[in-house]
Amino acid sequence: MKRRIGLLTSGGDCPGLNAAIRGVARAAYEMFETEIVGIADGYRGLIQGDYRVVERHEFSGILTLGGTILGTSRQPFSQMRVVGEDNLDKVAAMKENYRKMGLDCLVTLGGNGTHKTANLLCGEGLNVIGLPKTIDNDIYGTDVTFGFHTAVDIATEVIDRLHTTAASHGRCMVIEMMGNKAGWLTLYAGLAGGADVILLPEIPYDMEAVVAKVAERAQNKKHFSIIAVAEGALCKVEAAMKKKDRLRYREDQHFVTVSQRIAADLQAALGVETRVVIPGHVQRGGAPSAYDRVLATRFGVHAAELIRDECYGASVAMLGDTVGHNPLGEVAGKTKLVPTAHQLVGVARAMGISFGD
Ligand code: F6P
Repeated sequence: MKRRIGLLTSGGDCPGLNAAIRGVARAAYEMFETEIVGIADGYRGLIQGDYRVVERHEFSGILTLGGTILGTSRQPFSQMRVVGEDNLDKVAAMKENYRKMGLDCLVTLGGNGTHKTANLLCGEGLNVIGLPKTIDNDIYGTDVTFGFHTAVDIATEVIDRLHTTAASHGRCMVIEMMGNKAGWLTLYAGLAGGADVILLPEIPYDMEAVVAKVAERAQNKKHFSIIAVAEGALCKVEAAMKKKDRLRYREDQHFVTVSQRIAADLQAALGVETRVVIPGHVQRGGAPSAYDRVLATRFGVHAAELIRDECYGASVAMLGDTVGHNPLGEVAGKTKLVPTAHQLVGVARAMGISFGD
């Protein structure tokens, strides 16, 4: 029986998306008669009916390619049931286009928001399989997401390169990593890069503790420090506030980024020369690491197996050292944050790294 599979990539891109697309496609072609429909720019293409059949040869040569050959966009889950000025019922449009495409199933490659919409479509009767991607590694139910380890490698290299220049000049380098809610990337890259202070959204910091750590290093004749901070890190005062109050508090402070604030506070408290580095989207660009190529391929192959077995409403996951899956409904809408008592946090503390708490 021929199966027609729809593929879309949604949300922020990451290295490994094309490797996963290739994994699904190649394994599906091997397992059963297949036709693959590529949907443009994530749910935008599904809503607007922007899609085309992708030929088998188009899945070649993309294993190492960064980004996504299908394109992506952010379509907030909160807006999915909202009828906007265009008078379009997005959910009805997605169902109608799924039907028009003659799909047997839809494979969505994305992060938390993508999973929520995938689950919504599942509840509407579509056959959906989710693949977990994000450099944030914050998808519930999987030990790891593809894209994460590549971002860790990139962020670590950034820290490595800053280490030498920080040491030469006796400066404090404040490096801001991506990760608004979850600090996995900062934690891993901070540890791998030998940071002296690691600040995560999950562990509110006290500036006095950060200053104390840098001062202690100076006393020990270490005249430079490396501070790895997640973009979503909060000081203790902010953490105790409601979001609305926090925004006003930051506005009053002329807050730009957390790294700028920390650098300014350090300079003011210790007179130490500071520099801020924000690698930003560099962390999401370019070729996937070997680890992510293998992980994305494994996830893709498992998705093809689920399609073969007509096991829908699932999200592919790494469970221990085995690739398996979770029911979409059990993982969608939950975020995997760094537990404050995580073993890696303990390891970092044992190494004398400060979390500013
Ligand atoms: O979710 C991935 C991520 O890179 C986050 O770490 C970051 O906060 C966000 O996307 C940035 O989004 P955008 O690409 O829309 O600027």
